[in-house]
Amino acid sequence: MCGIVGYIGKQQAFPIIISGLKRLEYRGYDSSGVVTIDENLKVYKKKGKVSDLLEFVKDKDTKGTIGMGHTRWATHGEPNNVNAHPHTSQNGHFVIVHNGIIENYARLKKRLEARGYSFKSETDTEVLANLIEYIYLKGKISAEIAVRLALTKVIGAYGLVINCINEPDQLIAARKGSPLVIGIGEDEYFIASDATPIIEHTNSVIYLNNDNIAVIKRDQLTLKTIDDDKLIPKVQKLNLGIGEIEKNGYDHFMLKEIFEQPRSIMDTFRGRIAADLSEIRLGGLLDIMPKLIKAKRIIIIGCGTSWHAGLVGEYLFEDISRIPVEVEYASEFRYRNPVIYEDDVVIAISQSGETADTLAAISLAKEAKALVLGICNVVGSSIPRETDAGVYTHAGPEIGVASTKAFTAQVTVLTMMAILLGKERGTITNEEYLNLIKELTYIPEKIKTTLKHDDYYKHIASLYKNATNALYLGRGYFFPVALEGALKLKEISYIHAEGYPAAEMKHGPIALIDENMPVFVIATKDKSYDKIVSNIQEIKARNGKVIAIVTEGDTNIKSMANHVLEVPNAHPVVTALLTVIPFQLLSYHIAVMRNCNVDQPRNLAKSVTVE
Ligand code: AGP
Ligand code: GLU
Repeated sequence: MCGIVGYIGKQQAFPIIISGLKRLEYRGYDSSGVVTIDENLKVYKKKGKVSDLLEFVKDKDTKGTIGMGHTRWATHGEPNNVNAHPHTSQNGHFVIVHNGIIENYARLKKRLEARGYSFKSETDTEVLANLIEYIYLKGKISAEIAVRLALTKVIGAYGLVINCINEPDQLIAARKGSPLVIGIGEDEYFIASDATPIIEHTNSVIYLNNDNIAVIKRDQLTLKTIDDDKLIPKVQKLNLGIGEIEKNGYDHFMLKEIFEQPRSIMDTFRGRIAADLSEIRLGGLLDIMPKLIKAKRIIIIGCGTSWHAGLVGEYLFEDISRIPVEVEYASEFRYRNPVIYEDDVVIAISQSGETADTLAAISLAKEAKALVLGICNVVGSSIPRETDAGVYTHAGPEIGVASTKAFTAQVTVLTMMAILLGKERGTITNEEYLNLIKELTYIPEKIKTTLKHDDYYKHIASLYKNATNALYLGRGYFFPVALEGALKLKEISYIHAEGYPAAEMKHGPIALIDENMPVFVIATKDKSYDKIVSNIQEIKARNGKVIAIVTEGDTNIKSMANHVLEVPNAHPVVTALLTVIPFQLLSYHIAVMRNCNVDQPRNLAKSVTVE
């Protein structure tokens, strides 16, 4: 999620906080804010960039040797000046900045409203601020105890920095799921979401662990668990330069985002799959669910990688929910005078939420009075504002132009939708429903296992980095993954690559096969396994080089392919999420070996906001 900076010490807090927020800008954000504390609490916050915030406060009082700042990546509530952080509690006792998602915020909010609390913003964070204050006032207890008690009632992820106006000379920091680092200076402390804002002040740091809470005064830090068990802080020395830290030690944002996928997929189903795996709840679709259940047809629109995710969606909805699906390139859909019925459901998929062709296709669907849904990664972007309802992916900011974690987050949302619709339409049994939910929750760990093979993928990449062409083949759920693998290679290494349904080879492309053609084949265990084995044999018979993605332990294909890349066994419905990982890493390593600009490939933009 996004960025936090806190300071308590002898210096003026404001310049330290602002320069820290600028160091965190690489994480992407939609708004920012700061609070500085002396005799008064001065909160300034603004939609837009940190530079907009600076402009906004330039003639205002920002004095104070304590303060907190925040860059927001909205999850609950539009990016605007009210929803930006810091948030103060209703009676002004607490001010808070938060990274993460409070999953049970709605229930907590209802209980606080019943006790006389009202809310200025739409955020989950403000709920937490008021919960802490409610417990603090009711219990007549210290700020630290109130924070600890409040956090025991919270389900979700947080990195928090909190100040209580009645105990002004301290900051309280707490962490569960969203990282926080504390830098130790001379009678001063620095707090941040990662070490980037800290490294220029000190290299002595404490990394908070989950369920840790730190009470920080100018000359003293006390570390505990939220259950009040005292802890001995483990002070570590930072030995990274700024450049590396911005990428958390990865050489490129793309690599960092590939390795973030276990977390981003968990964040995408967090709060939507019940903790006991008994059900899927997609809050953003609740109001339109009856219409979605009765849908006669789903039209999925998108561009590039989002279009590939949509194609996986077609297989999911037709296979599990038995709803006819069409998948359209938004750029074609908007101009070809398509037939759209009022009872159609149109799903627009977009990481950025700003793609011009997709927005234009949405307008066409709305003119035809179809129900239009969005699956987007950037809260408050144009597409969520233009659609009737939708589901946000919670992949966090995707900086690399080549989309990776957004793709798997999109497919995760589509999988949850298909499973939920299958249950609601009775096209899968309750047992199948529960089993598919369980299979989906296994994926983050299985991706972690797949990522462990990265060194081997790097070796394979070195064998094919000089190829001039490449083919990617898959069947069923893996045909869209073949297209996605080809796009990844094309867009960052500039090698021409094509994805095909494997059976399509004999209708022409097999003429391309010779000893110079690497063919990447997805051959994991599923109903078309025997067919894909025949396709591999056809390629080998023509001296093609076969690099096959297989289910771990498959020695059969190992005996015929040139190389095999193993992925853990998984239910075919969720295996697409696994098989794309080797393709992402192979294209990354080949592009690096070819000295390509991986994060900003030539001719490409992260969001194509023009036609
Ligand atoms: C994918 O790696 C590319 N960056 C590109 O194809 C992208 O998926 C496409 O431009 C759509 O962008 P969107 O998801 O933001 O709408
Ligand atoms: N969930 C909080 C919000 O939407 C914090 C988001 C973040 O991590 O920036 O405001």
